Parts: sequence; structure tokens; C-alpha cells
Amino acid sequence: MSNTRQRMGILTGGGDCPGLNAVIRAAVKTASNEYGWEVLGIEDGFEGLIKPHKARLLDIADVRGLLPRGGTMLGSTNRANPFHYEVSTNGAVKVFDVSKTVLHRARDYGIDGLLVIGGDGTLRIAQELMQQGLHVVGVPKTIDNDLYGTEVTVGFDTAVTTAMEALDKLHTTAESHHRVLVTELMGRHAGWIALAAGVAGGADVILMPEIPYHLDVVAEKIQQRNQSGAQFSLVVVAEGSRPRGGEAVYQAERDVGGVSRLGGIGEVVAAQLRRMCQTDVRVTVLGHLQRGGSPTAFDRLLATRFGAMAVHVMAQGTVGHMVALHHGHITTVPLSDAVSRQKQVPLDSDLVRAALGLHICLGNRRQAIVAE
Ligand code: F6P
Repeated sequence: MSNTRQRMGILTGGGDCPGLNAVIRAAVKTASNEYGWEVLGIEDGFEGLIKPHKARLLDIADVRGLLPRGGTMLGSTNRANPFHYEVSTNGAVKVFDVSKTVLHRARDYGIDGLLVIGGDGTLRIAQELMQQGLHVVGVPKTIDNDLYGTEVTVGFDTAVTTAMEALDKLHTTAESHHRVLVTELMGRHAGWIALAAGVAGGADVILMPEIPYHLDVVAEKIQQRNQSGAQFSLVVVAEGSRPRGGEAVYQAERDVGGVSRLGGIGEVVAAQLRRMCQTDVRVTVLGHLQRGGSPTAFDRLLATRFGAMAVHVMAQGTVGHMVALHHGHITTVPLSDAVSRQKQVPLDSDLVRAALGLHICLGNRRQAIVAE
């Protein structure tokens, strides 16, 4: 950004997560303190550039007290893709490309660079807008941690902590009642939350999208535990998990944007285990609780480092990149790389090996999961 360009736009898109406000705070303070820029907050993701009157100037007073607050002060939506914008009139849905409106409004607002805080969907839109001339810098966020190009995304650590605390609570009641408790966690394409929270929360079984499961292997694990005297089991299931040769479970309704909503795998697994193990099985779906709450110290630090670095990157004129964590350092990667593929849990990772070593069942036999 040159001296003549001095207004930075900022927006949060896609599903919210803890730590978004901490990114906004760091970016506003850095832009103002270090460069003397104005910051324009865009409301509700790209919707705020599609529709009029959805932007406001943010100064340091506006971000006071934001650090521990969950959610996003700017609002967010996962229904405002300018390249595929759905408008519903009298029950009929029409799709429009309103990307030119976004570019024009950004120019009318005097935005010289746009800081886009988002997951893969939002950053893919940012990348396409960049190709049409908008100067964007990305900040990676999603509780799912499935964004390629960064080791960790903002929000993941807090979601894992929330899920782990839930498992700690479920543990005691499972033990008291000699039950199998199935917990469905978020994780559309990847099992990062399920694996991390499952290991940290002492789960006996962890099912995730990366390893299509065999229910007989899971039932065997539960029966072994019963026979060894541990008459309860904690089963963690990522929402995007599926049986070997089978499909993921979706809710009947389809969201605007044509995205099918996952949900219900916990009940499916529970019904089958109830029958196979002849035991009492209950289900907890943690759902959006994982997206709420105050960010952990890790997320506050990551968000602050990402927000500050994103502004420096913009000041250097490096657009079309996303800030990222690599070997503990903040670096940048081209947005095109970041959105090129999904980041799934590598089956040769030390966490997978550790889980198997602890005899946590990952839904399949060890030899089918890792090459020795
Ligand atoms: O991307 C995070 C995520 O929490 C996914 O795991 C989940 O499938 C999705 O968002 C649900 O989003 P929403 O309920 O806001 O449509």
C-alpha cells in the first residue's frame, strides 16, 4: 500500500469462530499505530460490499475490550458469494454474479487493500476478486483447521478446548452409568478437532473423515473394554465421518448456496452400536458450542500475530497472500496455494501414531491405517 493509498477494508466471512475479534483488534491497532491508516469495517462478510450502507470506520476506541470476546463484531455469513449470489423472489431462487458490484463498491469506499479473514470458501472468493484487481491479504480462520498452507488456523485451539472439556464431563457420567457415550463434533472434511479433542479428552474411539470406519472394529473395542472391567466407553465422531464404502450423513434441509448441511452421524453410529453391543448408548451433539466462547491464550496470540502481520504484509505491497503459521513462525503463502486443496490429518502424523499406541480405536485396524 503506497502513501497515497491509506484506507484498509476488513471483513470476516464464513462460519464464525473464537479469535476473530482478536484479529480485528490487532489489525486496527497496527494499521492505525504503525501506518496511520484508516480502517473500514465491512459488515457480514462480502454481503457488506454487495449491499449499500454496511460499512463503518473503525478506530482504536472501537476495538477496546475485544480481545477476549468470541464471535465477530463485524458479523459474518457463509451465504454471500459474489460470484454465485442467490436471490430469492416469490419462492424462486435466482443466481447472479455480483462481483463487479463488489469491486465498484470497494472503489467507492476508497478501499486500497482488503484484509479478508476467512476459511477456504471465503479465501477462494478473495482470490478470485484479486484476479479482478482487488488488493487482498488473507488471514486463515476456521475451527476445522482444514485450511492448507498453515499449520494452525484461528479458532481451532478454542474449539478443541471446548470439546475436550465436554468429554471430561461426559467421562464421569459414562463411568457412573456404564454407558457408551457418543459425541458428535464438527469437522466437515477433516478430523482435526475430533482427533485432538479425543486424545486430549481420553476418548476410546475416534472416527474421522480421513479413515472410513468399520463398525465391527469399533464394537470389538467396546466389548474388549467391557470384558476388561472398563464398563463404559467414549466414542468421538467427526460430523464428516463415513463408514467404509458408505456415505456421510446429511440433514434433510439444504442451505442457501447449495451446500448440504452435515449432521446426524452420531445417532447413526449409536443406533448400530446399541444393536451390536447390546448396551446402553447415548449421543451428545456439541454443534455450534464449538464455535463460541472466549478464545484461548493460544488463539489470542495467533490471532494477534496474524492480524499484525497481515497489515505489515499489506504495507509491503504483497497482495494475494495469506498469513500462515509455519514451524512456529508467521509467514505468508500465496492465496492460490492456500485454497488449492484441503488440509486433512496425515495418517503418518505422530498424533495418529500416539493414538494407536494408546490403543485408541480409529475405526479400522492399525495395519490398515499406518504403514509400519
Ligand atoms: O467450518 C466450520 C463448520 O463449523 C463446519 O464444521 C460445519 O459443518 C459448518 O461450519 C457449519 O456451519 P453453519 O452451521 O454455520 O452453516
